[in-house]
Amino acid sequence: MSEPDLAALVELAERVARQAGELVRTRPDTVDVASTKSSPTDIVTAMDTASEALLRKAIHHERPDDGILGEEGGQAKGVSGLTWVVDPIDGTVNYLYGIPAYAISVAVVTGDPLDPSGHQVLAGCVHNPLSGETWTATSGGGAFLDGRPIRVNRNVPLDRALVATGFGYDAGRRRHAAEVVAKVLPRVRDIRRIGSAALDLSALACGRLDAYYERGLGAWDLAAGGLIAREAGALVGGLAGRPPGPELVVAAGPGLYEDLQELLGPLRPDRDGEATEVSEVSEDGAHD
Ligand code: IPD
Repeated sequence: MSEPDLAALVELAERVARQAGELVRTRPDTVDVASTKSSPTDIVTAMDTASEALLRKAIHHERPDDGILGEEGGQAKGVSGLTWVVDPIDGTVNYLYGIPAYAISVAVVTGDPLDPSGHQVLAGCVHNPLSGETWTATSGGGAFLDGRPIRVNRNVPLDRALVATGFGYDAGRRRHAAEVVAKVLPRVRDIRRIGSAALDLSALACGRLDAYYERGLGAWDLAAGGLIAREAGALVGGLAGRPPGPELVVAAGPGLYEDLQELLGPLRPDRDGEATEVSEVSEDGAHD
């Protein structure tokens, strides 16, 4: 495979994300759930399907040899070694209710996009169609919000950290996630549950949040936002040196990242409720 042209890839990612954004912006007053996936609360709207169809068509038109992995339509393999990873609406529940926190996420990766340690994200774009804000990044080329360079907050003390998280859709997993967050909340400035992982990671990248963690992300939730956060200076990983992926994503600026790893480690946010006893951790971090 010849050296990919990162500038061309991010330009295409942004262009198609904005095109999908134009469509998603036409939200009707009433939105219906078209179908459900992993649980009754894990929903698909007609707009998710339409936005993904637009993204697939636009990408395929310009790069017919590349693969595409989409949240709703699954994976179409290509022959070029590159795969586009798209979330047509990240924050679908917000879209359903008309809460203005949803985004189109488009990234392009080399390797297997479904293997957390087996791919590299080359370029990505997260576009909020309502605010118009657009985050972009290329591997090694930095991260930008509306064309201006962005940086994460650095060395934020844990007790001053604004930490975002999410809960996925599985009831058992949520029970455990609630136990974990109950132990995190007294140790940090506050918690945010914005409802779009791509926007969480993008907000972290430009200093609107200090940290983010969540179990159960799909590759499409993580690919673009993860690159944007990393290129803005965040550390992005799983627990204890593992790569970020469906098991767990932890992201924060240097200093805070290490403290958050230490806090989360014993709480095992990378496991499901059924399998885990959450040990008590007191205010000073000692185990009861
Ligand atoms: C969801 C959002 C949410 C996160 C879930 C994701 P979707 O994506 O990113 O914030 O907590 O884990 O599945 O379903 O709206 O594309």
